[in-house]
Amino acid sequence: MRILVIHYSQTGQLTEVLKNFARPFLNTDHTIDHVRFYPDPNFPFPWSKSNFFEAMPDCVLSKGCAIETFNLKYDKYDLVIFGYQPWFLSPSIPTHGILNDAKFQSIIKNTPVITVVGARNMWINAHKEVSSRIEELGAIHIGNIPLIDRKPNLLSAVSIMHWMFKGTKEKKWGIFPKPGISDKDIGEAGEFGEVIKNHFENGEQNLQDSILSLGKIDLHWTIIFIEKKAKRLFKIWANIIVKKGTTPQKRKSWLLFFRFYLIFALFIVSPIILTLYAILVRPFVLKTERQEKRLILLIDAK
Ligand SMILES: Cc1cc2nc3c(=O)[nH]c(=O)nc-3n(C[C@H](O)[C@H](O)[C@H](O)COP(=O)(O)O)c2cc1C
Repeated sequence: MRILVIHYSQTGQLTEVLKNFARPFLNTDHTIDHVRFYPDPNFPFPWSKSNFFEAMPDCVLSKGCAIETFNLKYDKYDLVIFGYQPWFLSPSIPTHGILNDAKFQSIIKNTPVITVVGARNMWINAHKEVSSRIEELGAIHIGNIPLIDRKPNLLSAVSIMHWMFKGTKEKKWGIFPKPGISDKDIGEAGEFGEVIKNHFENGEQNLQDSILSLGKIDLHWTIIFIEKKAKRLFKIWANIIVKKGTTPQKRKSWLLFFRFYLIFALFIVSPIILTLYAILVRPFVLKTERQEKRLILLIDAK
């Protein structure tokens, strides 16, 4: 089997994940072509605060960027493993870029695609968009493997900011948890690769069921709740920033408002709303919540 493993990674985290993921295919009859693509121009890392928030409107409004020319060993593959990351609850700008790239589009057409997501913990909206888009492009989306930072939401938000703005994947002040996907989960990504390999070699029925049966992917109800509400609000903000930010100075000011809004919404509003929801509403909607979660994990929620 010819397999293309293609991704963008800014820090190299997703590169590590995919390297381990593909390990079970090494020294077998399968051929693996690893491609790490780059935006043109590339996004500087670490981020400045202004550059970081400047990326929001384009992510949320599905605007891509140019992609540097990349080389592939073959014109067609039996399987494409597509790695991507969410930015602002949306596919990252390079992900939008590659989805608009003619070469990538022709490679995934009529081809099974497995997506591997390297996120903080909010990947649902990005997943829905990528899944719809690749199917629109004629690909067959057969599996989705999200790897996340499993630490509590607010702690991981602080620690990822430290990583993004400082450039080192280390504990902020030595007390916050280490940011990103844990070393353990990165190291064990090969277990997913093993499931994929077995699926193709033994012709098992439903790949996503086998992926989930490893018991390594879960989705917390608070994340489903936040993602549902927040993406709508992000869209409103993105449209306001584009419409009202008609000069660089005005855009800068609107992005600054968004920054304050985000901090306020994440650290003050969301804990209050989640607590009220957990007490007053959640006990009555547990069944719907379970069904919704299952649909998302089974790639079905469009
Ligand atoms: C601008 C920006 C926005 C991000 N927004 C999200 C997000 O909405 N949800 C999420 O789970 N992770 C988010 N992340 C984390 C990324 O998905 C990713 O895990 C991290 O940047 C490391 O990925 P890498 O392999 O590209 O270096 C964001 C990262 C950046 C740089």
